[in-house]
Amino acid sequence: MPVDGASLSQSQSAGSKAGDAGEPAAVLHAPELSVVLPTFNERDNLPVLIERLDVALAGIAWEAIVVDDNSPDGTTETARQLANRDPRIRVIRRVGRRGLSGACIEGMLASSADYVAVMDADLQHDETLLPKMLEKLAGDGTAGNPGADLAVASRHVDGGAVGDGLSAMRASGSGLANRLARIFLHVDLSDPMSGFFMIRRTQVERLAPQLSSQGFKILLDIVASAKGSLRIVELPFVFRERLHGQSKLDTLVALDFLGLILSKLVGDLVSVRFLMFMMVGASGVVVHMVALFSLIEGFAMNFQVAQTAATFVAMTTNFYLNNRLTYRDRRLHGWAALRGLLTFYVVCGFGVIANVGVASLIYQEDAGRILIGVAGAAGAVMGAVWNYAASSVLTWRKA
Ligand code: GDD
Ligand code: MN
Repeated sequence: MPVDGASLSQSQSAGSKAGDAGEPAAVLHAPELSVVLPTFNERDNLPVLIERLDVALAGIAWEAIVVDDNSPDGTTETARQLANRDPRIRVIRRVGRRGLSGACIEGMLASSADYVAVMDADLQHDETLLPKMLEKLAGDGTAGNPGADLAVASRHVDGGAVGDGLSAMRASGSGLANRLARIFLHVDLSDPMSGFFMIRRTQVERLAPQLSSQGFKILLDIVASAKGSLRIVELPFVFRERLHGQSKLDTLVALDFLGLILSKLVGDLVSVRFLMFMMVGASGVVVHMVALFSLIEGFAMNFQVAQTAATFVAMTTNFYLNNRLTYRDRRLHGWAALRGLLTFYVVCGFGVIANVGVASLIYQEDAGRILIGVAGAAGAVMGAVWNYAASSVLTWRKA
């Protein structure tokens, strides 16, 4: 690995000389640019990428921050070996957590450089774009050209292309998502789903508290949260084909996207996770009704028995969906899933008590339609909030 040996040994010897003279020791070049590389099973791609970065960023003081979610293929080990040979490489290993957005946020916040870039570690992003992005951000120091806050690598401006990087299905889904982002979030970017961008670190620090660590739409989240306060430039690039390994983004990312749009629309009052939990809850009502009618009409069950059975059916599908979607990053498997299901039944049981309790507090004898509606809705909300809060602690507690 080509280590920046020259500048390293120079500054080290300068350091000892300065130390002898009683002056403060000279420091290694502080990086001007941090390149955040989220990884999950990128063992074979990472060394190639670092070599390419070294070439593309010649003359720039850069560092790479690899954020690995404990990849089973041993990417962390590979990254550590690279870091042992090259001090410009840093590694964050996250255990018990999964997610592209969260990894990117954590990597960006670990930087002290003026500029941070985020790019995929699977060689699909063209690293030769990085110096051009840096140029756009740095400006020329004059008032006339102070530089942008954010440079986005776009596949959809002149000169950019999806290349062979996306399947036709993904490409059309991506087009639809772009239109939704424009309509609902007023994000006017040609490629808001791009995972390749560079931003001033001060802006990341400012926006970080509003960003959702769930999902993978980190750029869209940044731009939507900034509400028009960023100076943005777009640069064309061609999305390359993946060489080793496979994409980790499945069809479920579409749900993340909808969740992000909804949560931004309601002004970040509720989290993407809560919204997802509510959507699953709503699906549970449908499941419940279908089960109830089938049991009564198909199996001639009496109402009480059918109602109880339908409740368990709905709780079970809710558990399954929440485990697959809402808590994808903390998904329970095997015995842990069974234990989770049982705690979920208990949580929902108390949820019913909370629901009925609150509803009866509001309800009065001879209440009119409106009051009945208010009481019923308040009870349902109370039950849902309870279920969400309690299950996040009991069922899908953090590892
Ligand atoms: N730490 C971490 N945790 N990294 C992850 C995770 C995760 O849970 N999931 C994926 N990554 C890393 C991958 O290792 C890769 O370096 C990068 O994130 C992108 O993941 P891919 O699985 O290769 O995504 P893709 O090629 O399907 O999607 C790309 O294109 C999309 C637009 O079509 C990404 O750039 C997306 O961000 C982008 O929206
Ligand atoms: Mn990829």
